[in-house]
Amino acid sequence: MTRTVYVNGEYLPETEAKVSIFDRAFLMGDGVYEVTSVLDGKLIDFDGHAARLARSLKELDMQAPCTTEELLEIHRKLVEINGIEEGMVYLQVTRGAAADRDFVFPDPEEVKPTLVLFTQNKPGLADSPAAKKGIKVISIEDVRWGRRDIKTVQLLYPSMGKMMAKKAGVDDAWMVEDGFVTEGTSNNAYFIKGNKIVTRALSNDILHGITRAAVLRFAAEAQMEVEERNFTIAEAQAADEAFITSASTFVMPVVEIDGAALGDGAPGPRALRLREIYLEESRKAAI
Ligand code: PDD
Repeated sequence: MTRTVYVNGEYLPETEAKVSIFDRAFLMGDGVYEVTSVLDGKLIDFDGHAARLARSLKELDMQAPCTTEELLEIHRKLVEINGIEEGMVYLQVTRGAAADRDFVFPDPEEVKPTLVLFTQNKPGLADSPAAKKGIKVISIEDVRWGRRDIKTVQLLYPSMGKMMAKKAGVDDAWMVEDGFVTEGTSNNAYFIKGNKIVTRALSNDILHGITRAAVLRFAAEAQMEVEERNFTIAEAQAADEAFITSASTFVMPVVEIDGAALGDGAPGPRALRLREIYLEESRKAAI
């Protein structure tokens, strides 16, 4: 079945959707995005994603293409048309297509933002086999730019990181800067020691994960404490458990870091419990 996608006010078959070669996301990486997961045909944490999108746009002095209510309507319509029960909605806003290539931002009165959305159908997303096995990660240097709190489409290095992981025979990579873990290539990183969840504090160094915020809120429900601070790979390797969070993986146990197995090498009970609580609460709050 051909997917129906959304481009600048139109719902089209994916094969007919087009964006200009002068679009600034294509030429300059001048665009931001959001990924919102879908469970039971409903959107998970839409408000959080919409709020972060507004913040990304503001930080880059980019116009909002429409209101949050209109965005919600587009998300819902795409989920419905494409019959998505479990999966994701990808949204991208760019500074638009200027008349020519130019480093200087175009006049916002003349050039309107580009808005693209499409769905990704992922049956079995919540009941993922990877969550039962856990994932293995390697560490790599974090050489990204300094505004990782803005969710830009500049994903070349995270993409290279995934390839480094693949080449090393593992699932993903955790990035390290000045000796401390920042985050995963497309997720936030955590370890658990005793009753405590440790994760890096929010700053411009990491993306402010929407799943992260929810999981830290639910930690109390799992009788766990949260400590937001810098940590090293060695500290995480010596932990009881580790995990990552993102809209597409929810809470995913990590069982190996740079070749060192955590605990007995199987997903830890606390990470699995957090995943369970996250899925349960998210389904309840989905819209
Ligand atoms: N990635 N850190 C980075 C660098 C990310 O790219 C992501 C999300 C996260 C987690 O954020 P959230 O919980 O809001 O999804 C953290 C998305 C899923 C992606 O690029 O596909």
